Amino acid sequence: MATSKTITLRWGIISTGWIASCFIKDILVDPKSRNVHDVAHKVMAVGSRTVERAKEFIDKFANGDQSIAPYGTYQEVFDDKNVDAVYIGTPHTVHYATALNAIKAGKHVLCEKPVTSNAAELRSLLAAAKEHKVFFMEAMWTRFQPLALEVKRIAEEGSLGKPVVLHADLSGDFDVENIPKTHRILDPNLGGGALLDLGPYPLVWAIIALYENPANNKAQPTTITGNMLKTPLTGVDSSTAFTLSFSPTESSGSSLAAQAILSCSITLDAPKPGVTIRFERGTITIDPPIYCPKSFKVSYLNKGNKSGGATQGTLERTFEYVGKGWHFQADEVARCVRDGKLESDSWGHDKSLLEMDIFDEVRKQGGYIFPPGVEKVV
Ligand SMILES: NC(=O)c1ccc[n+]([C@@H]2O[C@H](COP(=O)([O-])OP(=O)(O)OC[C@H]3O[C@@H](n4cnc5c(N)ncnc54)[C@H](OP(=O)(O)O)[C@@H]3O)[C@@H](O)[C@H]2O)c1
Repeated sequence: MATSKTITLRWGIISTGWIASCFIKDILVDPKSRNVHDVAHKVMAVGSRTVERAKEFIDKFANGDQSIAPYGTYQEVFDDKNVDAVYIGTPHTVHYATALNAIKAGKHVLCEKPVTSNAAELRSLLAAAKEHKVFFMEAMWTRFQPLALEVKRIAEEGSLGKPVVLHADLSGDFDVENIPKTHRILDPNLGGGALLDLGPYPLVWAIIALYENPANNKAQPTTITGNMLKTPLTGVDSSTAFTLSFSPTESSGSSLAAQAILSCSITLDAPKPGVTIRFERGTITIDPPIYCPKSFKVSYLNKGNKSGGATQGTLERTFEYVGKGWHFQADEVARCVRDGKLESDSWGHDKSLLEMDIFDEVRKQGGYIFPPGVEKVV
């Protein structure tokens, strides 16, 4: 399998909302500016529910590039022979049907988080992606950012020992009293609420630091708890707290004993630090915003030495690059497609499934039931 061959991945952008504008702007950044020379990106088409919005989007975010086809339906993008892969930026509850149509048309798919409304929808999509032999990945952009890769490296190189407790919170004040109840963050028909929108980010840090830790041997959490506070405005969760325990078991081969204490809210600003990972011999703290942090600090402890638990030393790192950070996941898609992979080694199907299984359980314990018809597969 060639790994040195350069390819230009030809993208179709599905939908014209806020996140789609972030994504297109980033993939139009020259990859060489982030020292990427093996892959490149070209936008071939934009699909919207109206062709006018597709044209406006191209005008606004791609300098009116005439080589990009504007379409008034998503299906026309899926049918476009010049498109290799599609990026889906529709609301959560529209991901399943949109991704399924893309897969059936033989397109590789990068789909926004949370990848589906529930785990059953995701399992159905993964089966379809397998059947049609297309690459499929949730757009968990944080996992591909240079800071996350460096935190993971330090967490696993041994000097901190094993992780023991992780705290992570992503909150954002959406001014819920003053936005329409049909806004996707408040509308249960669009999977509104804190958990599905913000919950993926505290969770991604738990997955990076605990689930992915070699001592865990890819074992599932042994316990999941969830607690939701609902807003009387529409009944969606305004704040959610959830925990994961990873216990050593013989059957899983895991020797990790660690807990993640995670939370999210749509009524508050994010706390600082956003993530704290406490290890046997030190702590990593990560500054907000935890979906795209730019700095972190490591404090090493002298545990076991005469000085007891005193801090032995610290390391601080900051990260800068051109663009906002959404392009790193696009590079991953291009590399995987180039190499004929159907899933990413870094954010594979197992991690999206873990996420959706956890969200299902937290919603169950928190009593958040979607309106009838929202979940396309149950
Ligand atoms: N990765 C991140 O950092 C990040 C950040 C924010 C949001 N997200 C995710 O991205 C998705 C979209 O969020 P957003 O903030 O971009 O939302 P948004 O601004 O409301 O855009 C969503 C777009 O989806 C299309 N759409 C299709 N069916 C729709 C429906 N029934 N109702 C409303 N819009 C519909 C619309 O585009 P057309 O009219 O052109 O079809 C709309 O502009 C969510 O799943 C969210 O979790 C990710």
